[in-house]
Amino acid sequence: MCGIVGYIGSREAYPVLIEGLSALEYRGYDSAGIAMVGTDGCRINKDKGKVDNLRKITSSCCMSGSTGIAHTRWATHGVPSLINAHPHTDSAGKIAMVHNGIIENYTSLKQKLAKESLEFTSDTDSEVLAQLIGKYYNGDLASAVRKALSEIEGTFGIAVVAADNPQVMVGARRGSPLVVGIGDDEFILASDSCAIVRHTKKVIYLKDNNIIELKPGDFSISTLDNRKISPRIHSIDWDPSVLAKGGFDHFMLKEIFEQPETVLNAMRGRLIQETGSARLDGLNLVLQELRQIDRIIFVACGTSWHAALAGEYMIEDIAGIPVEVEYASEFRYRNPIIDSNTLVFAISQSGETADTLAAMREAAHKGATVLGICNTVGSTIARESHGGVYLHAGPEIGVASTKAFTSQLTVLSMLTLLLGRMRRISHAEGTTIANALDQIPKQIKKILRQNKNIQEIAQIYHHHSNFIYLGRSYNFPTALEGALKLKEISYIHAEGYPAAEMKHGPIALIDTDMPCVVLALKDSVYDKIISNIQEINARGGKVIAIANEGDKEIENFAHHVIYIPKTIPMLSPLLSVIPLQLLAYHIAAFRGCEIDQPRNLAKSVTVE
Ligand code: F6R
Repeated sequence: MCGIVGYIGSREAYPVLIEGLSALEYRGYDSAGIAMVGTDGCRINKDKGKVDNLRKITSSCCMSGSTGIAHTRWATHGVPSLINAHPHTDSAGKIAMVHNGIIENYTSLKQKLAKESLEFTSDTDSEVLAQLIGKYYNGDLASAVRKALSEIEGTFGIAVVAADNPQVMVGARRGSPLVVGIGDDEFILASDSCAIVRHTKKVIYLKDNNIIELKPGDFSISTLDNRKISPRIHSIDWDPSVLAKGGFDHFMLKEIFEQPETVLNAMRGRLIQETGSARLDGLNLVLQELRQIDRIIFVACGTSWHAALAGEYMIEDIAGIPVEVEYASEFRYRNPIIDSNTLVFAISQSGETADTLAAMREAAHKGATVLGICNTVGSTIARESHGGVYLHAGPEIGVASTKAFTSQLTVLSMLTLLLGRMRRISHAEGTTIANALDQIPKQIKKILRQNKNIQEIAQIYHHHSNFIYLGRSYNFPTALEGALKLKEISYIHAEGYPAAEMKHGPIALIDTDMPCVVLALKDSVYDKIISNIQEINARGGKVIAIANEGDKEIENFAHHVIYIPKTIPMLSPLLSVIPLQLLAYHIAAFRGCEIDQPRNLAKSVTVE
């Protein structure tokens, strides 16, 4: 999604801005632009395409100065083009602004402003806000922004500069994240701390309806209705080195290979093998409150929704608590039934997904205790929940989520253990689960050693146009996740199904051109899965099976077998998803796709 970087301080702003935009490239975008303010006014450069295009056009023109704003745009209103790229200005060129989010009442505002003879040059909703700020600007940028925002409906994260004053920059947010990095005599305003961490680890996460006025060496934060705020300063807890590929061809591959460590990080200090339980202090719930829960709702989107679905299987099976898994985008517009004994979890890697955020707000509004399972520290979902659990997976840069998924599964396993031990599982059963979880990082490492073998299978199948992924029980969510990984990065059409559901329709698709990836692990549904494989074989389909080590029988039925170590059924998705991630990665690589930034996709979906 769109990215914002702003700089005000004592150094040249341009290198900070352009590097900052590069650090935000992973979020997905289609155009980029920059505005520099100096004593000679405001200079703007922008273009369709990559940040490198912008770098080329700006290298030949003067971009010096110590104040500037920059943007990567992910089109919502208006095609990706030079005129629609940000920064936008008002007709008189008094201010320049970059905007993330959506101005919902832009049509009526635009009509009103057009009647005042203001000329619009773009098709964007954002330009309306720039025009409004310009209209109200009279030497006090913060009050012009405040006044303009009072007329806006919708979401925004903005950075604004005034052409006649390089000594000020204003930022504001509602629904779109903004972080302020506090350096020595300088501030970096960004939509994501990835653009800040190289310069400082001291940050303030702006809250909704906050406005910040930045001047060299000084800042003040207030609410949109002008009440002063004393902000809390946080420290970024990860190292800038994670923003490099570290010898891998793509961030996605690097992140797949990080999983032994990220899964371990999610468990560290939380998994207690001696008692066969887990400590999740961040939930901020006392045991008594946890005991009273009689229903859990997970709200999430995409891969996080798949993790939630796996969580449903775990919690219902082991802890005996009814669980519902909701697409956040549906939940937010339904009238869900929630009572005080319902616990709602919002699961999100980014912690900024607009639909998930809206769903959790709706649940909180109805009186539910809402907890977050998030990766991004300080994100809006993390801050707005009553408590929660961080994944500690480090920034996930590849647009296709991999390590966040296994970390989410790890946290959900520990939640299951905690709730299960309070209710119906014995110390011995709890210890079995805890010990099995403890083995997962080593077992993932073992699967990763098969990378070459999986690449060879990918080579055979990379030219196919359709895939089916099948799984049952605990591995039905894994089948969905495997199919999602393949479609997002390789653009191959892929569907995930519960294996037995195939005969109710999808079986019509099976022919010699249809590869079927089947999760056939040695669990309670193994024999049933073998029957499903037979049905595929009978119709000439090609089967790539994910099976447990030592299962020789499967070789009689599958064209290819990828073996994974055995664990308890509840934890099997943590292992079975790894070959599916690698398979998708290699197929996309053979097809020459842009793996880390697939077309049309954004890393953090901050619009509806
Ligand atoms: C898939 C993917 C998306 C996200 C979804 C939710 O690889 O990345 O489907 O899982 O947009 O994002 P978060 O977890 O940030 O809320």
